[in-house]
Amino acid sequence: MDQAGVEPGTVVVVTGGARGIGAELSRHLAAEGAVVVAADVVDPEWDAGDLAVTHERVDVSDEASWQRLVDAVVDRHGRIGALVNNAAIYQGLGAKRHFTELTVEEWDRVLAVNTRGVWLGMRAVHPVMKAQGWGRVVNIASSTVHMGVPHFAHYTASKGAVIALTRSIAREVGQDGITVNAIAPGLVETEATRSLNDDEYLAAAAVRRAIPRAQEPGDLAPVVSFLCSRGSGFVTGQTLIVDGGLAFS
Ligand SMILES: NC(=O)c1ccc[n+]([C@@H]2O[C@H](COP(=O)([O-])OP(=O)(O)OC[C@H]3O[C@@H](n4cnc5c(N)ncnc54)[C@H](O)[C@@H]3O)[C@@H](O)[C@H]2O)c1
Repeated sequence: MDQAGVEPGTVVVVTGGARGIGAELSRHLAAEGAVVVAADVVDPEWDAGDLAVTHERVDVSDEASWQRLVDAVVDRHGRIGALVNNAAIYQGLGAKRHFTELTVEEWDRVLAVNTRGVWLGMRAVHPVMKAQGWGRVVNIASSTVHMGVPHFAHYTASKGAVIALTRSIAREVGQDGITVNAIAPGLVETEATRSLNDDEYLAAAAVRRAIPRAQEPGDLAPVVSFLCSRGSGFVTGQTLIVDGGLAFS
């Protein structure tokens, strides 16, 4: 019988793995036996200890940077079982603002990282996964899309596009043995979230959930692990909201 989590030895690339949710996903997957490449545009803020995690540089908005990363992973490991597209401009969004106050430069930068970065990542790993005859892609979207959260227009647009990309690319690569799914987290208590929202906002979100408590990065990790596993092989094009039961799709 297939196990529920990622199979030991699976090579998993996690973008945005330097901190926050990406760090926790990397730690969890490695603890389950995956060989994790945590890639980010900044230095890691955590130490993997004895776990099989290596840190690499990538700017996900940049085509050449993706190719360098994929070449380095294939040189070292010979395969890429799963890609977790977690990197995004989130903490870097700064204060929430009315959509009329966003600049074109901010809009383009957020879409370049959060949306183009996800497409470029899937495009970069596709030849490797196709040659293997299997692969798993997990894109980190956001329940702000489902909730219609205001004052984050560029961010919600970028994450809505991630859900759309997940669906259409899933149809294009299913025949290659590759699944593409998305996870839409609710408000997760990371340093980034605390810098963007005050305590009252966080507490109000927590009590409105069917499971009325704070959401932690660890709430996402087992779900990502399942979608990186062979056992999830007949699930594709889906967006799973992991928010303790606040938004229902
Ligand atoms: N924290 C939440 O409440 C929440 C909710 C829903 C979705 N998400 C999503 O989860 C993911 C992680 O969120 P987080 O809370 O850890 O945020 P975060 O801002 O702390 O982490 C984002 C990571 O992406 C990296 N990154 C940014 N631009 C990059 C680039 N061009 N190339 C490579 N790496 C880049 C950052 O350096 C950082 O390590 C993001 O996709 C975010 O949109 C977060």
